[in-house]
Amino acid sequence: MMTKLSVNINKIATLRNARGGNVPNLLQFAIDSQKFGAQGITAHPRPDQRHIRYQDAIDLKSVVHTEYNIEGNPMDEFVRLVNDIKPTQVTLVPDAPDALTSNAGWDTIKHCVFLTEMVTEFKSNGIRTSIFVDPVESQIEGAKTTGVDRIELYTESFAQQFPHSPKTAIAPFVACAKLANNIGLGINAGHDLSLKNIAFFKSQIPGLLEVSIGHALIAESIYSGIENVIASYLDKLR
Ligand code: PXP
Repeated sequence: MMTKLSVNINKIATLRNARGGNVPNLLQFAIDSQKFGAQGITAHPRPDQRHIRYQDAIDLKSVVHTEYNIEGNPMDEFVRLVNDIKPTQVTLVPDAPDALTSNAGWDTIKHCVFLTEMVTEFKSNGIRTSIFVDPVESQIEGAKTTGVDRIELYTESFAQQFPHSPKTAIAPFVACAKLANNIGLGINAGHDLSLKNIAFFKSQIPGLLEVSIGHALIAESIYSGIENVIASYLDKLR
């Protein structure tokens, strides 16, 4: 089974914003990533709009002809934006407004009522839903009760441990993936995945539908070029 590669393009917006103009061109980058084979584009607008701006998220809709994934914390403005754009998928992430990057999954048990409301609303607008979770089985079960379509496994702990002990690093993710498959939840994954660890992750996780990758992919592209890097990911995800 092929796992889809969704390219997270926040870093391109960060680079553009550093000089205030339109270089690099975010929309062109999304167009080219898809031309080079990416099966999805991910954008993560945050309230301070320090990388992807709300207007970027709107503009991307007309150029993303693969799967469009918008991720973020479902605060009022984000919810309005996503419902207007109607992307393929919305990924709910509990990141604080000032967080450098996402740093935890949802507590799906504590926030069950809120998450259920959000999932119900987005699904009623025809948007596939996913919840960002730590690799903890009770959290996967909690996600299931919300009616969500998929989970996104938060892979930072895997990426940190992988160089030292791949088996230890992957164990909780395998257990959660088996559980998710058994209870009918689709599986996405993301955070700190890279060309170094993606093949092993893919080989161990049954039913991995999609990975969203930003930071490493853009950094690798500085050396090898975006076309080559996307081709390498696709090769490892086949
Ligand atoms: N998934 C989620 C929910 C994220 O917040 C991020 C980072 O914005 C990613 C995936 C991609 O992580 P990375 O940039 O480390 O590839």
